[in-house]
Amino acid sequence: MLVSAKEMLQQAAAAQYAVAQININNLEWTKAVLTTAQEQSSPVILGVTGGAAKYMGSFATVTAMVKEMLKALGTTVPVALHLDHGSYEQCQACVEAGFSSIMFDGSHYPFAENVAKTREMIDLAHRNGLSIEAEVGAIGGEEDGIVGSGDIADPEECRQIAALGVDFLAAGIGNIHGSYPANWPGLDFDVLAQIRAVTGGIPLVLHGGTGIPTEMINKAIGLGVAKINVNTECQLAFAAATRRYIEEGRDQQGKGFDPRNLLAPGYQAIKDTVKDKFALFGSIGKA
Ligand code: 13P
Repeated sequence: MLVSAKEMLQQAAAAQYAVAQININNLEWTKAVLTTAQEQSSPVILGVTGGAAKYMGSFATVTAMVKEMLKALGTTVPVALHLDHGSYEQCQACVEAGFSSIMFDGSHYPFAENVAKTREMIDLAHRNGLSIEAEVGAIGGEEDGIVGSGDIADPEECRQIAALGVDFLAAGIGNIHGSYPANWPGLDFDVLAQIRAVTGGIPLVLHGGTGIPTEMINKAIGLGVAKINVNTECQLAFAAATRRYIEEGRDQQGKGFDPRNLLAPGYQAIKDTVKDKFALFGSIGKA
């Protein structure tokens, strides 16, 4: 059964660890994440962008696949199915499709419009039993066509959005989607501490989890981050393992061309990456 992400993130915030949002792209991704979460007794959030849902068919296709897989795998750890960087229309579609959590990303609107639309989406989510994430200050970089300018969020704007009753809040603090450039100045912990101080203790969300050094992850968790999103790192691990398999000519040996064999090293690479993230974020054994 899918659960809202609200309780799992409140628990994480109280006990100072973070739950991983791992974005899924297909069946292999979904199975790798769910299997690893169960093996490690860790709660997990499956993140789905509009682009990933379109690739898999529709939001309803994703819900059906995830729900059936939870049954087939006998998953007992808490799992939330969460829309990542949703538009107004995508939030509505995910409520209908049976997601258990949504993110409304109004960070690119003028602030007053972000407030008005976020308020409406909170009402929609809560009426239907879903948890909801909002965003202030666009996350930099590009993810599935969502391009952000890399703002540093204004703590006063964060206060106002948190006061609307959102369940958890993403705020730009110098984090970006995709790999970090060598000259990246790092996360802005002063702003994170200010945001923390004015948002009433709601769980904070760190996007762009790929490649953030361990000390910064620990410091962010200490300052109220309870959800960390990871996407690119699994993609890189999957691609590298698949490339190695083909470069070694293993697809040309026996039944090596069978997709169930060909995709196995990439599947294992996702599992290893997810396990590393659970360990880094401190969520192992917390289910
Ligand atoms: P990365 O792709 O940088 O890991 O970011 C993922 C993310 O923030 C999903 O919203």
